Amino acid sequence: MKSRYLSLLLLHLASAAPAPPLSSYATRVISTSGVLTATVGLAGPDPSAPPSTQNTTDIPIVLAPGQDSNSNGDISFDFLNITNPQPIRGDLGASDPGPHNSAYDQQNPNTLARPSTDSGDVQQAKWPMGLSNNRLTNAEWARQQNIAVLPAAKEMAGVDMRLELNAYRELHWHSANEWAYIFNGSARISAIDSFGHNFVDDVKEGDLWYFPSNFGVPMAAFDKIPESQLYIFGGTPAPADIEKQNVTSPYGQIPAQTSFSFHFSEEEPLEVPGGSVKIIAAALHPNSDEWNFSLSGRARITVFDAPDAARTFDYAAGDVGYIAIDQGHYIENVGDENVVVLEILKAPQFQGISLGQWMALTPPQVIQDTLGLDDATLEGLTKEKQFVVAAQP
Ligand SMILES: *[C@@H]1O[C@H](CO)[C@@H](O)[C@H](O)[C@H]1NC(C)=O
Ligand SMILES: *[C@@H]1O[C@H](CO)[C@@H](O)[C@H](O)[C@H]1NC(C)=O
Ligand SMILES: *[C@@H]1O[C@H](CO)[C@@H](O)[C@H](O)[C@H]1NC(C)=O
Ligand SMILES: *[C@@H]1O[C@H](CO)[C@@H](O)[C@H](O)[C@H]1NC(C)=O
Ligand SMILES: *[C@@H]1O[C@H](CO)[C@@H](O)[C@H](O)[C@H]1NC(C)=O
Repeated sequence: MKSRYLSLLLLHLASAAPAPPLSSYATRVISTSGVLTATVGLAGPDPSAPPSTQNTTDIPIVLAPGQDSNSNGDISFDFLNITNPQPIRGDLGASDPGPHNSAYDQQNPNTLARPSTDSGDVQQAKWPMGLSNNRLTNAEWARQQNIAVLPAAKEMAGVDMRLELNAYRELHWHSANEWAYIFNGSARISAIDSFGHNFVDDVKEGDLWYFPSNFGVPMAAFDKIPESQLYIFGGTPAPADIEKQNVTSPYGQIPAQTSFSFHFSEEEPLEVPGGSVKIIAAALHPNSDEWNFSLSGRARITVFDAPDAARTFDYAAGDVGYIAIDQGHYIENVGDENVVVLEILKAPQFQGISLGQWMALTPPQVIQDTLGLDDATLEGLTKEKQFVVAAQP
């Protein structure tokens, strides 16, 4: 480790207006000591000043297991029980004696001490909902992630919200399609489409709804509706019997194949070694950007941006991840509980290309000429899509 270490902040100063003279707001005499204004003589070199002997190597640091080793340059360090994690990976990096917020570093070990396989720069792909401004009303709270906070997220935005008992999300429409997943509790939803078909349904934890934008009519059709919105407000209890709210439309019900709800909670997941997967509508996702939300566990994810940038991010429950259509990625469970992630693609069909399957379905000679893999490695690849792969013992 380096023996002298400089810790600093670089600031680009815009032309700041000078502060008004103190006398213009001093109304009370307070006793002071010391000097307010820097002495002009301190500017620039002073050949007579003694060199500083401050030594920063002796700040006490505790490294995480594996952190001082030069082997395994791509492992994820566990900083959760390290009170002051350091940006060190083997001989790379150095301790940080300057000001920092260790809680961020504990949660983002792959940002503080990135794996040696990361390179170049990849646009920020993580937004913690915990940093979103939360609006509280007497019937709910709601906080959102949008392009203003996560500029990479050009195609999709998300809202995390709670509705109290009997609260309504106001009748509304928007220019974007709306997709929702229910974490806890249940709700009654109703909608109409541009043909006058209507729809009512009860959805519960694990179910989802999907409402296409504007019922397919132009925005101008709604010009006369009042501007100010109720957004979410308390209401009267809904009757338990849904039939009482099943209005008969002369045009009939929304056809099942375009239904706005999906009882996803009742779908059996596909169990695979290492985890399980559920897909509706039917990981490089060649037909869509991907928006995702972590529900539990701790995961790390490397996003690959062609031609040569890669960056690893850490995700915990409540974090939003956004990955553009052309970015390759994997997700690895680095915690001690199951990682549960909700992945949302803006496409009519789920498509994903698994790297192993891609290699297994390519003539072996091509793979060997490109990557130099041996026969045994190639034989270990599976031609079936695996979704989730169990850790090697
Ligand atoms: C800085 O401190 C370290 C550890 O206490 C010591 O080994 C080193 O000699 C010191 N270096 C200087 C320049 O004082
Ligand atoms: C943190 O946890 C790891 C694994 O549980 C353990 O090996 C290590 O000693 C702990 N570190 C500290 C500083 O407690
Ligand atoms: C609410 O839903 C989340 C996400 O599915 C789950 O992790 C959590 O345990 C649920 N909470 C309760 C109180 O059921
Ligand atoms: C509402 O009524 C229609 C028939 O008019 C029926 O097909 C549909 O299943 C009913 N919906 C619910 C949720 O009961
Ligand atoms: C979630 O999005 C992140 C950020 O782009 C991505 O790296 C990660 O692979 C995605 N998660 C899953 C399960 O695909």
